[in-house]
Amino acid sequence: MYADQGKPVARSAMTVPKLRQMKADGRKIVSITAYDASFARLVDAAGVDFVLVGDSLGMVVQGQRSTLPVSVADIVYHSACVARGLRHALLVADLPFQSYATVERALASSAAMLAEGGASMVKLEGAGVMLEPIRFLSERDIPVCAHLGLTPQSVMRLGGYGVQGREEAAARRLLDDAVDVAQAGADMLVLECVPSALAAQVTARIDIPTIGIGAGPGCDGQILVLHDMLGINSGHRRPRFVRNFMDGATSIAGAVEAYAAAVRDGSFPGPEHGYE
Ligand code: KIV
Repeated sequence: MYADQGKPVARSAMTVPKLRQMKADGRKIVSITAYDASFARLVDAAGVDFVLVGDSLGMVVQGQRSTLPVSVADIVYHSACVARGLRHALLVADLPFQSYATVERALASSAAMLAEGGASMVKLEGAGVMLEPIRFLSERDIPVCAHLGLTPQSVMRLGGYGVQGREEAAARRLLDDAVDVAQAGADMLVLECVPSALAAQVTARIDIPTIGIGAGPGCDGQILVLHDMLGINSGHRRPRFVRNFMDGATSIAGAVEAYAAAVRDGSFPGPEHGYE
């Protein structure tokens, strides 16, 4: 049970079709990252719809400078921990850097995420050549979440963690990429650090749910890194799209509940959390 606008609501386990139905119904999807069983239990009880074991764990758990050193074994280990804490939320596991560079590697990495890590979906970054692994996995009944905009595994090529899709050509390419990943069989799409208007355009254009992080209020749902929204200093600059939900909260559970409520009532993200 979780509190939704003051009324207790019975919850059953989240599924991939239910996430798609939420988009169709115009109900906001709430998501957060977690890396261990205790936090998984807490965010699950707070009513989040899906939990991502992100390769952000490289930065917020391992203290790395980027997500690149994270291994398949790391994500499998943390996913298995998180899976033990979840009752309702769907578990999504990140495919680490180069672990889906070929379709064979993508299949082996994803099978480990589902079979050993307890995940129900895997996430991978990019379109273009990544359409092949997306298609390959989805044809083998492995649900895939694509990730476009700022793709942190491309940090060496991008030269940093800046906003993507601001120029007209880049915006057009991102829109085309979103259509392509959906057509290739992706079940969901994370949009990271893209102008709010562009994210809203993508959301209207494709049938699969879009989950924004620094992509404005026009997405079908929102995700934040747990440590960021709890105001924990993980040694990295806090991006402008983050709100510290511990401000005004009396407990961590209260902060996560406030985040879920703010996403559902549309008060988060505000204009100050988005990009033009
Ligand atoms: O690794 C991660 O936590 C992510 C989210 C920021 C979407 O990819």
